[in-house]
Amino acid sequence: MTLDVTFIIFGATGSLARTKLLPSLARAVIDSGVSHHAVIGVGTTQRSNEEFEQIVRTSMEDAGIDSECVARFLGGTIAYQAVGDPGSFVALGDLVRSIEAEARLSGNRVLYLAVPPSKLDATVDGIAESGLDTSAGWTRLVVEKPFGTDLATAMESNRTIHRVFSEDDVYRIDHYLGKETVRNLLVFRFANALFEHTWGRGQIESVEITVAESGGVQGRAAYYDESGAARDMLQNHLTQLLTLVAMEPPVAMTADAIRTEKVKVLQSARSIDPSDVVIGRYGRGTFNGASFDGYLDEPGVGNTSTTPTFVAIRLFIDNWRWQGVPFYLRTGKMMSARTTHIIVRYARPPVCLVHAPDACPGHQNILMLRLQPDERFELLIDVKEPGDTLEVRQIPLTVRYDDILSDAPDAYQTLLTDVMAGDQTLFVRSDEVEASWRLYEPILGRTDLITYAPGTDGPDSAEALVSTFPAAWTPLAGPQPDSPD
Ligand code: BG6
Repeated sequence: MTLDVTFIIFGATGSLARTKLLPSLARAVIDSGVSHHAVIGVGTTQRSNEEFEQIVRTSMEDAGIDSECVARFLGGTIAYQAVGDPGSFVALGDLVRSIEAEARLSGNRVLYLAVPPSKLDATVDGIAESGLDTSAGWTRLVVEKPFGTDLATAMESNRTIHRVFSEDDVYRIDHYLGKETVRNLLVFRFANALFEHTWGRGQIESVEITVAESGGVQGRAAYYDESGAARDMLQNHLTQLLTLVAMEPPVAMTADAIRTEKVKVLQSARSIDPSDVVIGRYGRGTFNGASFDGYLDEPGVGNTSTTPTFVAIRLFIDNWRWQGVPFYLRTGKMMSARTTHIIVRYARPPVCLVHAPDACPGHQNILMLRLQPDERFELLIDVKEPGDTLEVRQIPLTVRYDDILSDAPDAYQTLLTDVMAGDQTLFVRSDEVEASWRLYEPILGRTDLITYAPGTDGPDSAEALVSTFPAAWTPLAGPQPDSPD
């Protein structure tokens, strides 16, 4: 089957498009065997087609795409249209239709919105004005994160979008869902009966989800200072991990069956107790021998900013499977390591038979799913030390995926390929994004920031959230086996 596609990218010259989207689009187009394509960049600045083509070329070369692929991708029609002036969306519509007619494209359109939430509604209205939402082929709307800045704006954007597009044609991006390691969570849970039987309140004491970054805002203060850790990471990336870990088995591996189960997790979440939240901001300090500015010193951040760069919460899912099991979620910038991990702490044996009396209540099995930077599966189990005495030691059973499996495609490439295939599984549904904002709404206005030093695991006070035993977040290096009794 051959496929031809017209890509219309709004925000086509922004940093996300240059660094991630355009190279991944080129890879997706070439690897999916698209027969012919056109890319129409849209922005608010006036540029020529040649200037835009140069931006596309540079972004592919910077991403290390080989010259043959660059030439193949640039072999499609590449054009640019500025919008903002009256009539500019109508002109965009005319341009796209004339390119499609000339290049004999069938009108399959991906309309990609890499624009901030504040511009989303006007852009969707402009698309309706341009007539690009209807064609002889399919038209799909892709919307970059963040989707809204709170519940009210997300609901308003959903209403605006649904006036023009049906939900079946809307693809809300959360790039974590495109990561191979995150997709693997579904397989891990629903292909291995071994774990599913222990997955719940009967066996599990707590679940921890950490997405720690060792970098700061990296020149994105204009965006980040309006967002902060809860809007930038918790409401989307961590929440996606939470729902995949906590959801019930879907009735089928279809987009709607899976997304329905994810929404139910959010609907079952208990309102967050204000005392179950710690927010923080990195201050100045030294880390690995180098001095670092604090968040307030970052270019573009005003000294009255109250934006958090760290958030940790304790959350409960009040359903039959998870009642009473705390979920600890934590994310921050300028932390001691870059790591994304899910830690499942199992209950200890009900009777402490094999440990020395002073070592009771004994160890617990810990399952770690490390998603970044190296994908790893690790299970801590107890074994007997060789010798006459009954000494118990915890050892890790570790599987490093890199040792066994081949390289994974990049998240954006996966997601763009799915958009072309019409598969919405890895995209956030309208009710899901609203349920997520609804859950975090009470914490978005918090300004009680605690300063933490760069290169640490965040504010010490976050430890107080952990109410299970031992009361500690897992060190960013991963769970450490307990020593012998
Ligand atoms: C983005 C956030 O969505 O995800 C960034 O806006 C963050 O602030 C990034 O750094 C993290 O993504 P990854 O794939 O590097 O874990």
